[in-house]
Amino acid sequence: MASFSPRVFSGMQPTHTLHLGNYLGALKRWVQMQESHDCIYCVVDMHAVTVWQDPADLTRAIREVTAAYMAAGIDPKRSILFNQSQVSQHAELGWIFNCVARLGWLNRMTQFKEKAGKDRENASVGLYGYPVLMAADILLYKATAVPVGEDQKQHLELTRDIAQKFNTDFAAQIAAHGHGDSFFPLTEPMIGGPAARVMSLRDGTKKMSKSDPSDYSRINMTDDADTIAQKVRKAKTDPDALPSEEKGLEGRPEADNLVGIYAGLADISKQDVLTRFGGAQFSGFKAALVDLAVDKLSPINGEMKRLLADPAEIDRLLVDGADRARAIATTTMAEVKDIVGFVRAR
Ligand code: TYM
Repeated sequence: MASFSPRVFSGMQPTHTLHLGNYLGALKRWVQMQESHDCIYCVVDMHAVTVWQDPADLTRAIREVTAAYMAAGIDPKRSILFNQSQVSQHAELGWIFNCVARLGWLNRMTQFKEKAGKDRENASVGLYGYPVLMAADILLYKATAVPVGEDQKQHLELTRDIAQKFNTDFAAQIAAHGHGDSFFPLTEPMIGGPAARVMSLRDGTKKMSKSDPSDYSRINMTDDADTIAQKVRKAKTDPDALPSEEKGLEGRPEADNLVGIYAGLADISKQDVLTRFGGAQFSGFKAALVDLAVDKLSPINGEMKRLLADPAEIDRLLVDGADRARAIATTTMAEVKDIVGFVRAR
């Protein structure tokens, strides 16, 4: 197997205000990875338009998500931060991968089934092909690791399948062009921590999601202290006290979720949380959770507001990030064209 230098890639859709699931499942971990890895973080606006987006709202959301990345601690000098549509190679490689991926593979994607719902005939072709574009995002940079929440696991398995099939289908050309036995890495998903799947505050069996009609189901990164307090206070719980051992959370999805959120925010394990709060009633635990959430989220919220006051500077940073991303993407795409057998300018 050819060796690939370690590189992290991940992205979020600018379709909504980011919520605590996005933060704990992904963004907070991205920030930490900058310490040890070469990182590329993308605002995946081309993925966003797989369902209808009002153009003015989309523009606003791209800037808001960029501001959220930076406010949370993504450093645009150290990492590459850009929006997908400025690097056209994503679409180009996406097309090649459309011709590598099999219909049967896409038919198994559960997120398409959830998003398209009953009216599948009316879903966009883009929504169906979404995971193929996601594979292109990752493999364009030959990323070796992708930090995401648990809901992206199946998409990352598909990314590996596409890389594997490309490597196999074009094995002779890959070797002939000096790339050894594989052109694309088999990317590792990085899914983990106590908050890899943050659940709704109203129903511990449902994922915290932007599409839940109740705003009380989620904490948004732009919520002020009062709103956070209200949402946590109203969060569904059960009548029992908190257990002292993790095993005691089994069959108690709401308790498990709140403990996971606390652990994620405080950067400790669920067991650490229970060692501290085991035996406590929810009222006391919720008060501590509100304090912690406000403490961690308010500075991010404040910094987001400051950054958003200067949209031209955000746009400038995105152009700069896109230039750096494109430098890598151009090389990969030229190599892919040679491998596939296209004629190109030299
Ligand atoms: P998106 O925009 O839906 O979500 C962004 C990130 O947030 C994570 N996440 C959660 N984690 C824990 N608990 C939750 N309730 C929760 N909700 C969301 C997601 O797992 C994700 O990491 N397909 C991707 C975007 C994408 C991408 C990529 C990601 C496009 N290309 C390439 C990685 C690499 C998506 O829709 O994420």
